[in-house]
Amino acid sequence: MADEAIQAAAEQIERAQTDKALRPSIAGFFDESTNTVSYVIHDPATCEAAIIDSVLDYESASGRTSNSSANRIIEYVTSKNMKVTWLIETHAHADHISAAPYLQQKLGGKLAIGRGIIKVQDVFGKLFNAGTDFERDGSQFDRLFDDGERFSLGTIEGIALHVPGHTPADMAFIIGDAAFVGDTIFMPDFGTARADFPGGDARQLFRSIRRLLSLPDETRLFLCHDYKAPGRDEFAWESTVRQQRENNVHVKDGVSEHDFVEMRTSRDKTLSMPKLIMPSVQINIRGGRLPDPEDNGVSYIKIPVNAV
Ligand SMILES: [Fe+2]
Repeated sequence: MADEAIQAAAEQIERAQTDKALRPSIAGFFDESTNTVSYVIHDPATCEAAIIDSVLDYESASGRTSNSSANRIIEYVTSKNMKVTWLIETHAHADHISAAPYLQQKLGGKLAIGRGIIKVQDVFGKLFNAGTDFERDGSQFDRLFDDGERFSLGTIEGIALHVPGHTPADMAFIIGDAAFVGDTIFMPDFGTARADFPGGDARQLFRSIRRLLSLPDETRLFLCHDYKAPGRDEFAWESTVRQQRENNVHVKDGVSEHDFVEMRTSRDKTLSMPKLIMPSVQINIRGGRLPDPEDNGVSYIKIPVNAV
């Protein structure tokens, strides 16, 4: 069957490449403590804005959260008189806590993620032995996107693509001529995201990446993380389909699925779990909200012992 969703995304990108009015303005906010890039994307004509993959600061030794990263975004958005209509998560992150509920309270907007979050809620709901009060139906979010579903940001077109592999629920969001690819590919000199979390799959990741790399050559790609790379001392988070196809150290043109899967699988065996995986996942599957407080008014994060 023809891949209608990727075809529609490619046509949208081409329309935006020929008409400046269909291209969004994009600002990246890098959080050095989790190596995460959050994006504010806006339509210059209407000032409607989307915030993708925001970060809530969290200090794991003390269990304290703070809003300084999110406040930087709020300052930027309000200084430009933007109206936030979307708060988007590319997936349930395992390395940082989402600030989406805080941003929603301050700025408004609909909280959105891929429909696969339901599967992730089921897997991690069981792991954390969350009670029946934890709904596993995605109802913590305002909108669950399916592959190929369209949305808009002011006068700019958007389309959601399901790109599983890193997790079963990963989505990429194409807004005008720009693709926010979450944890699929990273900068060409760093490669790709890991695929060893529960529900992750290196073969699926390869197919999702090759699907994204079938988009037009000059598609702007915005990545969710950067870790620098040997020989590069600056953080970077933007590339193009052409640059990835020519230079990505894991998935450039010519690398076979078989070779990628072998490389990814053996590399993943050497990686330790992200520092914040336990708090991040427990909170992010709840749409970024803390678990319900206990009878003393305090929320607790659980750690399953010898279960992962
Ligand atoms: Fe991730």
